[in-house]
Amino acid sequence: KRHLISAADLTRDDAVLILDTAEEMARFADRPIKKLPTLRGRTIVNLFFEDSTRTRISFEAAAKRLSADVINFSAKGSSVSKGESLKDTALTLEAMGADAVVIRHGESGAPHRLATSGWIGGSVVNAGDGTHEHPTQALLDAFTMRRRLVGREGAGLDGLRVTVVGDILHSRVARSNVHLLSTLGAHVTLVAPPTLVPIGVECWPCEVSYDLDAVLAKSDAVMMLRVQRERMNAAFFPTEREYARRYGLDDDRMGRMPDNAIVMHPGPMNRGMEITAQVADSPRCAAVEQVANGVSIRMAVMYLLLGGAEPALSRTDEAPT
Ligand code: CP
Repeated sequence: KRHLISAADLTRDDAVLILDTAEEMARFADRPIKKLPTLRGRTIVNLFFEDSTRTRISFEAAAKRLSADVINFSAKGSSVSKGESLKDTALTLEAMGADAVVIRHGESGAPHRLATSGWIGGSVVNAGDGTHEHPTQALLDAFTMRRRLVGREGAGLDGLRVTVVGDILHSRVARSNVHLLSTLGAHVTLVAPPTLVPIGVECWPCEVSYDLDAVLAKSDAVMMLRVQRERMNAAFFPTEREYARRYGLDDDRMGRMPDNAIVMHPGPMNRGMEITAQVADSPRCAAVEQVANGVSIRMAVMYLLLGGAEPALSRTDEAPT
């Protein structure tokens, strides 16, 4: 594959290959010298039309650890604010010789448009588009679950019970996770207020519940999502206290989860709304680990898209058999 636009495009074999390659990348992260020469001479552009902390930094760290040249482009402070189009921005990047463009955009479908337009010749990686998809987030989430709950390379997530809680309507993380986790064999349950469940969810490969307390005891991982006020009409904001009472994860609710079940959050968090500070800071919460795993996953994605067909880096050191 040349682009990564949607988690729905990944077969189980594709997904397992990315997770296994990320395991190899993670082994390099533990070494004193973390850099690999794999993408030396290649240019990766991080093209961010929307704010980001984790995704932008980890794509940059991933590209630098693979020795690529990195150009960071933020729409704020660029000629986009003067009305320049996505097409003209893309043509400018093409003129700079971009081998890959990592794009975050507020419009669902912008990465697909970039990948299919012919404006650029390199690979396109979706770093989050509108309410559509965020495939590398789902991959790092699956990687975190596999490490914590399965502990076996080459494996999927067969039989794991994953509950995703919160603003599903606006969540590209939820969409990508539903696709990827079901491809990997997990059972996904979405929990949300009825107003924050998307139309057509009955066609998604998951179940839907409106009762968080009813599903906690049957969850191996509970992923809490932020209410995305910036994508909502103010009239529809749930009140913080009422939302936290019905759908927030606190110590009491975490205590109803199975002993080895984990809490996840893609960030950014609204502490006190969907998750209490005590839960966010507890050892059962994998949020910081998710961020670290994001670098390994993004290294794996860039390596597999740009670096060649061989999935296993360490095998290059071994004699052929
Ligand atoms: N999880 C995530 O996409 O975070 P950022 O918006 O900070 O990149």
